[in-house]
Amino acid sequence: MNKVGIIGWPVSHSISPVMHNAAFEALGLHDWRYELAPVPPDIVRQSLRMLRDEGDFVGVNVTVPLKEAVMPFVRADERARAIGAVNTIDFRDGSGTNTDVIGLIDDLQAHSVMLAGIRAVVLGAGGAARAAVYGLTKAGAQVIVVNRTPKRAQVMLADLTLAAGIQNAEVRTLDEAAEMQPSLIINCTSVGMWPKVDESPWVEGIPFPTSAVLYDMVYRPARTKLMQQVEAGGGQAIGGLGMLVRQGAAAFRLWTGRDAPIEVMFAAARQALGGQA
Ligand SMILES: NC(=O)c1ccc[n+]([C@@H]2O[C@H](COP(=O)([O-])OP(=O)(O)OC[C@H]3O[C@@H](n4cnc5c(N)ncnc54)[C@H](OP(=O)(O)O)[C@@H]3O)[C@@H](O)[C@H]2O)c1
Repeated sequence: MNKVGIIGWPVSHSISPVMHNAAFEALGLHDWRYELAPVPPDIVRQSLRMLRDEGDFVGVNVTVPLKEAVMPFVRADERARAIGAVNTIDFRDGSGTNTDVIGLIDDLQAHSVMLAGIRAVVLGAGGAARAAVYGLTKAGAQVIVVNRTPKRAQVMLADLTLAAGIQNAEVRTLDEAAEMQPSLIINCTSVGMWPKVDESPWVEGIPFPTSAVLYDMVYRPARTKLMQQVEAGGGQAIGGLGMLVRQGAAAFRLWTGRDAPIEVMFAAARQALGGQA
């Protein structure tokens, strides 16, 4: 049996097992199985070794709060080092990568959102924002970061510049960013996420740029307050489920060497979220 899974603390809410097991089933990969593996933050090193040596795991996904904590124990690639977080480990060669970037960029491409030469606004400065700024600037976009705590955004850009030579990004206030007429705005904050579904990271009184497409990384609920605001103004809004599915598909490809059945994974994810996505 080839075992893969997800480590985090807690992990019981994860829909990754449902997505991956549906994909294994669809491709007839009956000797593959995806399992939940709860790992407390204080025993990360021992747990990784146990999963590899005694649990016979091929690899694992990594979720909150362990994405940074696993870094010293894997051979992190350039992308993961730049972002400062690993979300996929392959025990066969000890490597660690970050497929959130692939998930986001693939999903933007799937929605025909051009990135080269555009101006994009990233809302947030946490792990998801780091992945977005890295992916967008690598794809040739100019990035403006807006965060509730501007200092955290400055530190994020300084880190990304040092680790990956990123230059085409700056920190602004929300009204400054809105006036710069971006063509893409990505919500990388947790604002609007279930259960606080009535909240939006967009400050009232600042018009949402009419020319901008919104990508909301939040996928629970499927249509966030911010998405509803943008759509009410006649704009296009894309939810974050596609990013979740496509980051999983990238890990699937890495472990199995097979292209993931994306539509099967989408259907399984939607069903697992029970109408919330
Ligand atoms: N679709 C996907 O596949 C995918 C992948 C990764 C993450 N996500 C989603 O992306 C979101 C962020 O994840 P993360 O890991 O980056 O989280 P994080 O590291 O905790 O960062 C949270 C960010 O949200 C901001 N924020 C939180 N509460 C706020 C508020 N009330 N008003 C304004 N800003 C607020 C924080 O600002 P401060 O710096 O000021 O605290 C920070 O920038 C989550 O909803 C997560 O589910 C989705």
